[in-house]
Amino acid sequence: RLGNMEVDNHELKIGGLAVSELTKKFGTPLYVIDQKDLTDRIHTFLAQFKSNTFGTHIIYASKAFTNLYMAQLVSKYGLYVDVVSGGELYTALKAGVDPKKIYFHGNNKLPKEIDDAVKAGVGCFVLDNEVEYEWLTETAEREGKKIRVLLRVNPGIEAHTHEYIQTAKNDSKFGVSIFDQQTLPFIKRIIENKHLHFAGLHAHIGSQVFEEASFFKEVDEMIKYAKDVEQTFAIKMDELNLGGGFGVYYTEEDKPFELSQFLKRYIQHIESTVAELDITPNTISIEPGRSLINASGSTLYTIGAVKKTMAGYPYIFVDGGMTDNPRPILYQAKYEAAIANKMDEAATQTYRIAGKCCESGDVLIKEVDLPKAETGDTLVIPSTGAYTYSMSSNYNRIERPAVVFVEDGQAQVAVKRETYEDLIRNDEMIKWKEL
Ligand code: LLP
Repeated sequence: RLGNMEVDNHELKIGGLAVSELTKKFGTPLYVIDQKDLTDRIHTFLAQFKSNTFGTHIIYASKAFTNLYMAQLVSKYGLYVDVVSGGELYTALKAGVDPKKIYFHGNNKLPKEIDDAVKAGVGCFVLDNEVEYEWLTETAEREGKKIRVLLRVNPGIEAHTHEYIQTAKNDSKFGVSIFDQQTLPFIKRIIENKHLHFAGLHAHIGSQVFEEASFFKEVDEMIKYAKDVEQTFAIKMDELNLGGGFGVYYTEEDKPFELSQFLKRYIQHIESTVAELDITPNTISIEPGRSLINASGSTLYTIGAVKKTMAGYPYIFVDGGMTDNPRPILYQAKYEAAIANKMDEAATQTYRIAGKCCESGDVLIKEVDLPKAETGDTLVIPSTGAYTYSMSSNYNRIERPAVVFVEDGQAQVAVKRETYEDLIRNDEMIKWKEL
């Protein structure tokens, strides 16, 4: 990713802006989103899926990164939006996303969330379990609405990714297994329920998956199962939603597919399988999150101390860490880095990049070769668009960084930097007892 970024003189530029201008204007740590890179990728998805025999919904998995700006942008470009909580739903609605273009996911949608979503006119519920089925039916009946649902099924595919982000194994907490005897009777109940419209099936095999074969197998299993369901109940499947999970580049260890080539092969595979089994869903949907946004995001930090220890690599301390990017501590995720103001200097030293949290594990990068690092330099970690800001925390009462979108030499703040005031906004002083 760093290889694709523009360098001017000795300095990194993002969206036509020198990194020093960004840090001067907006401070650090800072999440920077290269808007053209993002919209180009949105167009790649849309273009590849334009000329099929089936219709497609490209549904942005907003858990990867969402805020009003992002939700507005993806919906402007015609994407649908996947939400998994009342908060993500609220954000999408406030951003003006058409409720009909929202998919509501999650294994434990709360009664209030279901209520809000039904009232808002959310276009599709991805049903997870029988309790949710009951709640949804009650709500639909009360509101006098017929709700479109997909059933989340588990096709039992083992995708090779980190265990925490694997989803379609047989003991997964998500959905119902296609091998479970109870699943067809459950589908029957949904079909016969006059408050629900059974529109089809959904599956998601995991995240950061690189094996094309896993995605192809998912297509085969899902289409086969859909055919089964069609024949068993003499219905026609309206939609098959195949989820997201397309792997992306973080470091040289990752070997992602070239996106448009992969999508071409994927679509061909879908088309031939659909033809072979003679099944014609109106819509085949996918739900990319990471593969849409990750490469467009970078995080900028200011280097504080550079500290030698008695053993190991010298530390570079940055003004953020696990609070703005918990992926290394959660998943041992790896990243690359560069010193944004020394792009013309060769690497001379291996460093370890650590954050400022009171926690030994708060290490963003275990080892990275860089030019000589000095206090005040700007460290850039690219490929941080997905699951960083959206998983950030206030641990140690550290304020969340700002999010800035950049394009053509211009910048707009999408999310303001948090302040100390924000940190205590919901706190109360003791009122009920004399101390
Ligand atoms: N659809 C469903 C139903 C999902 O559960 C997910 C991700 C996606 C789509 C989008 O997957 P993507 O295209 O982004 O891989 N926090 C973890 C990733 C968790 C993914 C959860 N579900 C991480 O930082 O790696």
